[in-house]
Amino acid sequence: MTGNEIRRKFLDYFEQHGHKVVHSSPVYPPNDPTILFTNAGMNQFKDVFLGNEKRDYKRAASSQKCIRAGGKHNDLDEVGKTARHQTFFEMLGNFSFGDYFKEDAINFAWDFLVNELKLDVNRLWFTVFAGDDEVSADEEAIQLWIKAGAKPERILRFGRKDNFWQMAETGPCGPNSEINYYLGDEPENPEKNRADLVNADEGDTTMEIWNLVFMQYNRVETEKGIYKLEPLPAPSVDTGAGLERMTVVMEGVHSTFETTLLKPIVEFTARLAQRN
Ligand code: GLY
Repeated sequence: MTGNEIRRKFLDYFEQHGHKVVHSSPVYPPNDPTILFTNAGMNQFKDVFLGNEKRDYKRAASSQKCIRAGGKHNDLDEVGKTARHQTFFEMLGNFSFGDYFKEDAINFAWDFLVNELKLDVNRLWFTVFAGDDEVSADEEAIQLWIKAGAKPERILRFGRKDNFWQMAETGPCGPNSEINYYLGDEPENPEKNRADLVNADEGDTTMEIWNLVFMQYNRVETEKGIYKLEPLPAPSVDTGAGLERMTVVMEGVHSTFETTLLKPIVEFTARLAQRN
């Protein structure tokens, strides 16, 4: 399945499940001084999560053009060193604005990956928020993954760096649960397909493919440099799946630059530079 087919399949799947398919917003966010570039699909819905704006739908899906080259989510230093980081990418996402929450978000993700894309469950790993002094551990997400079909030993706990998502220093945020995929040659071999490869520095053997954020808080600055979490008007969902990474998985290649999405651009550039 090509990158373009995956994008179509994702948007069609969520449309069939009651989501309004929404266009990508501009990569330069016109009215938000908290970010330089659009860094996630949820940016255009920030005010909807905060309860400051109403739309005529409570579920949405998009393929958002993102730039992560600065600010809170800055991948610039990784580009060219890993097989999975880009400055510009497309983020597939489904969103709930006070409609469904954790259980449906997890069930949709499982159903799409396992039943629609037919990914091998032996290659999947799940992470949940381990808790800290501000927000408790997400034991509920563990139980929901098990109910969906995940093996308990495939569910790992991580701290704030990996499993608590916020778009900027302030704004909507919450604990998140990531789905990781083992790309190696020996999924049945527990010495190769191992827990310690999840969120490892190398990260190209077992790679994050989808992040489910359980949006529950607004992070506000109470005085300079002091922040606190306030509850959102309603628990909500924001997810982000890298289209190019999903395409790596589905096309069986080893780098986002080898996918049908990016390879033609690499080849075109190589021809221009007479390096083909
Ligand atoms: N907003 C979810 C993500 O960027 O991972």
